[in-house]
Amino acid sequence: MRKPLIAGNWKMYKTPQESKAFLEAFLPLVAGHSRDDIALFPSTTSLAHVLEAAAGSNVRVGAQNMHWLYEGPYTGETSPAMLAAIGCDHVLLGHSERRLYFGETSERVNLKLRAAISHGFTPVVCVGESLAERENSQTEAALREQVCIALRNVTPNEVRKLVIAYEPVWAIGTGSIASVDTTAEAHAIIRQELEHCLDKETAEATRILYGGSVKPENVAAMMQHNGIDGALVGGASLDPVVFAKVVQYA
Ligand code: PGA
Repeated sequence: MRKPLIAGNWKMYKTPQESKAFLEAFLPLVAGHSRDDIALFPSTTSLAHVLEAAAGSNVRVGAQNMHWLYEGPYTGETSPAMLAAIGCDHVLLGHSERRLYFGETSERVNLKLRAAISHGFTPVVCVGESLAERENSQTEAALREQVCIALRNVTPNEVRKLVIAYEPVWAIGTGSIASVDTTAEAHAIIRQELEHCLDKETAEATRILYGGSVKPENVAAMMQHNGIDGALVGGASLDPVVFAKVVQYA
């Protein structure tokens, strides 16, 4: 009942030309693939190009970040209305790189989530513990707090499209993926917290992805666990052939 989502986070990679070349190679490789939803999160300058190239295909497109206000004097920011106007339907919120390098707090993620809801986006909210938190047995507390603050003043009805991505910070870009057991445990904590903050039905319906060093060689084992509803893929989403292999895990 939870259709898996395999999403590519391109971070600060690819010019518009490189993005278009990716789509030209990637779309034929995944044409007709309907087992999983597929989404790409290009950089802001590539968004319109990717949206145009992906129009009518089975690939959805989203932004990697957004402001929460409709418009205003916020130099360098992109508003939800601007993203909606070009046809974006997904948005990534609270990625650990935004938390780490740009001071994004869970309170801000909450503001952004509420803006995403009011614009009809599918929000992909990233949560995950740092290495220090894991080593100090604070994983559960960190996950619960990130989920709970992100969902403040949000009702179950408003988050029918919500997706959570569990991304342990120590597994991102390091080549060392979390084990299936570690991931399943974290997903269970997140689902419990969703039930606590929303309700059981919504918690059961919410897709929880795994992210952190996902590759064609390790994605299938992860996806076999029925509490793991997809993957958020960084490095392995940059090459069309490699990412198509991730999408088509067997
Ligand atoms: P990675 O990145 O797949 O390169 O580890 C994942 C992410 O940051 O979403």
